[in-house]
Amino acid sequence: MRLEAITALTTAALAAAAPAAAPVKARQEDKVPNVTVIATGGTIAGSGSTFDTTGYTAGVRPIKDVLGDIPDLDTRANVTSIQYSNIASEAMVSSDIVDIAKMVNNLLCTPESDQAGVVITQGTDTTEETAFALDALINCDKPVVVTASMRPGTAVSPDGPGNLLDAVTLAGSEVGKGRGAMVVLNDRIQSAFYTSKMNANNVDAFVEKNAEIGGFLNYKPYFYYTPSQSTFKKTFNLDETLKQNDTALPKVDMIYGSQDFDQNLIIAAVAASDAKGIVIQGVGEGSIPSFAEDTINSVVAQGIPVVVAAKPVYGASAPKEDASSKSYIKSGFVKAAQAKVYLELALANNYSMDQIRDLFEGDLRSAMFGQ
Ligand code: DGL
Repeated sequence: MRLEAITALTTAALAAAAPAAAPVKARQEDKVPNVTVIATGGTIAGSGSTFDTTGYTAGVRPIKDVLGDIPDLDTRANVTSIQYSNIASEAMVSSDIVDIAKMVNNLLCTPESDQAGVVITQGTDTTEETAFALDALINCDKPVVVTASMRPGTAVSPDGPGNLLDAVTLAGSEVGKGRGAMVVLNDRIQSAFYTSKMNANNVDAFVEKNAEIGGFLNYKPYFYYTPSQSTFKKTFNLDETLKQNDTALPKVDMIYGSQDFDQNLIIAAVAASDAKGIVIQGVGEGSIPSFAEDTINSVVAQGIPVVVAAKPVYGASAPKEDASSKSYIKSGFVKAAQAKVYLELALANNYSMDQIRDLFEGDLRSAMFGQ
């Protein structure tokens, strides 16, 4: 269980922790919303030498120091911070996500909640997985915002403080309600369902065109649409998920499609690592070589779902009209990393193979075949 300490940060504490900066304006607690920041690590909490934007160490600085880098944050929200962990996001596991989803639901979705919204800070490398899972698990319409940064606070022109100020402001806003989980970096608001990290290095990394729903001016949010969510979005009951699996979710392994595809990797994943589900990424719109189909379907016949996602960021792994109910499942517009999340949650909620097929293929089967 990761370190979990709730520290209530007041403006005075923030001002004391912050480096010498402009005098903090008087607290306006009766005029600003309450927002909780749950910190897990990543570059936004990273540290390195001044010119280092690649070799720094992620998950080093405490969230109270990271928040202290933002002048006048108290004019936007009364911020309470929780240091859930301080790690690089490639080291996060499904039990972290379930724990955080439980915390967010308890903070936001109970009748006695006094929080307007929640921000999760983490590494960019798996931001899309965390945001997608929270989008599926949070059962109220208050803003849930995942933010991160591409440069540590020690680098020249760090992006973390501005991203976090944007995220806290959005989390405390009325306009952010009813939009599902969101990802905020570089003055962009991306929907959790569609967003992906599109650039390995640039501060403008989250620019998935289907995900763009708004942005910021003067660190204040605006949206291009009225509140709406993806037509392909699914939700899961967190209590049911937790009842089945107190900590980790059922294991889903990922196989990368390419030339020289080896279907025996799927057999090995089931045999060696006790995978309860498999996601294959690509190639193309989720194409599987014909020589591999029998092996893959033999795994499905054992009751282990195999979901095949598209490799390109854009487009769908479209279902086949005549697909046997005993064959692998196409993921639709759900990308590979996100298909792993849905499949873990479906298995955690004891979905049948047909329910899993409908989860991924149902909307497109209706649209394409009228089924
Ligand atoms: N190790 C990467 C991670 O924690 C750093 C990348 C980042 O946070 O921008 O996701």
